Amino acid sequence: MADLKEQLKEHEGLATIYGEAMAGIGAASTAEALEEARVAHLGRKSPLSVLLRSIPELPAEERPVVGRLGNQVRAALEQELAAKKGEIESSELVRRLAGEQVDITLPGEPFPRGHLHLINQTLWEIEDVFTGLGYRIADGPEIETDYYNFTALNTPEGHPARSSHDTFFIEGQPDVLLRTHTSPVQIRVMEKEEPPVYIIAPGRVYRRDSDATHTPMFHQIEGLAVDRNITMGDLKGTLETFAKAIFGADREIRMRPHFFPFTEPSVEIDVSCMICGGAGCRSCKHSGWLEILGAGMVDPNVYGFVGYDPDEVQGFAFGMGVERIAMLKHGMTDLRMFYDNDLRFIKQF
Ligand code: DAH
Repeated sequence: MADLKEQLKEHEGLATIYGEAMAGIGAASTAEALEEARVAHLGRKSPLSVLLRSIPELPAEERPVVGRLGNQVRAALEQELAAKKGEIESSELVRRLAGEQVDITLPGEPFPRGHLHLINQTLWEIEDVFTGLGYRIADGPEIETDYYNFTALNTPEGHPARSSHDTFFIEGQPDVLLRTHTSPVQIRVMEKEEPPVYIIAPGRVYRRDSDATHTPMFHQIEGLAVDRNITMGDLKGTLETFAKAIFGADREIRMRPHFFPFTEPSVEIDVSCMICGGAGCRSCKHSGWLEILGAGMVDPNVYGFVGYDPDEVQGFAFGMGVERIAMLKHGMTDLRMFYDNDLRFIKQF
């Protein structure tokens, strides 16, 4: 290029044409302006084309100079034009990309985060307490047979305890029902496994019952510990640990005699009222105590159904309603709120 400029000193007219054309091309900053510059400086009517066409009329000594340098000027301008074209195209691309740019660091639309339903939170909390004590989680079917739900739990046909369960039976299948408690899991586990057994069985149970404190479906957690030399002291210590973990370290428990067909002796366990601390208030009906679960020492008759030797092993069992535990813990009065799915309720926990 410097070479061409040097040579152009030979012809002032061409030097001017070259200089103006380079300036014109260089000044174009859009594709349209560049096209205009091309027409102006390289088109048929451009000074360069006019000069080249006029070669035959030029003085003889000027002709070879203009012919040689003129073509070099044309080539140089075409090269400059191509380079400028590439430059403009890439800067237009850059501009377009910048316009379409997406800021991936912008925070997105927040997706509302849910959480576990209070029933599941309570279930998990209780499971944590017992798995921490070495218990394993077991489960069984919600559609049960009469045998597992009643008979093997020492509740033979015609036993008055059956009628208190408000059982849903399957039509046309008198031996099949929706389990009324999680206790049948005890039988299913002991049938399959040799002692020692330490299990809890959480799950849904069903009863024909519906009011402020009963829904036809609710949740229970069953517990069973069978080993050598298990006493009621172990039962009490275990359930006291549970009560303190769930309701607070200041809680105490007491046992009241009760009856369940599958435990002997049987008890109901109360926890000291967490509202008044045991002094007596409306929540605990001024007794200072709230009933939380049923329990007892496994009745030897039950071992007979699963092939355990009652002279070799002893054990205790307990069963609690998860809704009831959650209600007591959170001061709820109506159990149906669990299942209304009203977010104003659900979001509070
Ligand atoms: N299954 C009993 C019920 O639903 C609760 C229960 C009481 C379970 C005592 C037990 C127990 O394991 O020992 O009412």
